[in-house]
Amino acid sequence: MPLGRIALAPMEGVVDFHVRKVLTEIGGIDFCVTEFMRVTTQLQPRKIFYKLCPELKTAAETAYQVPVHYQLLGNNPELLAEHALRAADLGAKVVDLNFGCPAKTVNKHKGGAVLLQTPHEIFNIVQAVAQALEDSPARLTAKMRLGYEDKSLVFENLAAIQEAGATELVVHARTKVEGYKPPAHWQWLARIREKATIPIIANGEIWSPEDYQRCRDVSGCTDVMIGRGLLADPFLAQRIRLNILDQPSIADLAAVLHYYLSMIAPDVPEIFVLARGKQWSNMMRKHSIEACDLFDQTKRCTSAVEIMNLLEKTAQQPRYFQDLFAYQP
Ligand SMILES: Cc1cc2nc3c(=O)[nH]c(=O)nc-3n(C[C@H](O)[C@H](O)[C@H](O)COP(=O)(O)O)c2cc1C
Repeated sequence: MPLGRIALAPMEGVVDFHVRKVLTEIGGIDFCVTEFMRVTTQLQPRKIFYKLCPELKTAAETAYQVPVHYQLLGNNPELLAEHALRAADLGAKVVDLNFGCPAKTVNKHKGGAVLLQTPHEIFNIVQAVAQALEDSPARLTAKMRLGYEDKSLVFENLAAIQEAGATELVVHARTKVEGYKPPAHWQWLARIREKATIPIIANGEIWSPEDYQRCRDVSGCTDVMIGRGLLADPFLAQRIRLNILDQPSIADLAAVLHYYLSMIAPDVPEIFVLARGKQWSNMMRKHSIEACDLFDQTKRCTSAVEIMNLLEKTAQQPRYFQDLFAYQP
């Protein structure tokens, strides 16, 4: 199977404008999706759209010409349609609907994965948004899990989404109840593909080029979306593209993190720099024992200067991927 598209997954509170910029600079990513905009009562002002997706001002692309899709979450078809139209008017080329979020507060208000229990509601939402976008160049996509408590309605939800007008569908291969617990059930993606009339993008538990290969073999999906794996190893998409089995060194990871923190530092409070540094370093732990050690050290940092110094020192160790990412703190 030829290499397909690799998408950076939306991750609320993690994958913001700056993370998208850093990861698409390193490369190998074909498109990104914003964190979700929660649609509840009234049409949000334009500035909120720009805040979530500053890339709307640059043709809905990152600084490295990688498209950014705009994600909405909610349950009110008319209101979601209004938001989709506004996103399109502001420059979004793709609007994505979230039917996978497992968060309690979101589900309590009937948004995200809870809707997978009522395929007719999903149909109404997708249809209303697709109709609203009919006269705009923007297209509609969706993202779902295999179900809420179980997988019994998975084909009904697929039918609702594709018959109502979505042009492609990302499937996170777990139910809401399964949360983030491994494994992801890639074999279900193969069953979904058999009945699908739109492209299905595989998502869940891709941490390495070997996982990428196995996920595509088992699911038969050409395209994949990767979330936590790309945070744990920002070089993963390029390693897949270039068939590099060597892993980045701890110095490569520290350089990426230092770059990101120095990018956000001028615009945010010091406490935020520290928090984001610890957050991303925590997500890198999955990568190696050295990354676990680095996290233990970042955890003890009490200021932005301290964490930056630690990362700068760590980045002086031998680098493997300096040709892919030349930044040196
Ligand atoms: C912290 C966090 C935030 C997330 N936020 C979103 C979101 O805003 N929209 C969405 O569709 N999925 C969201 N997800 C789900 C991911 O996009 C993805 O489906 C999931 O992490 C499985 O992929 P992975 O195993 O490659 O990480 C989030 C996941 C995490 C861990």
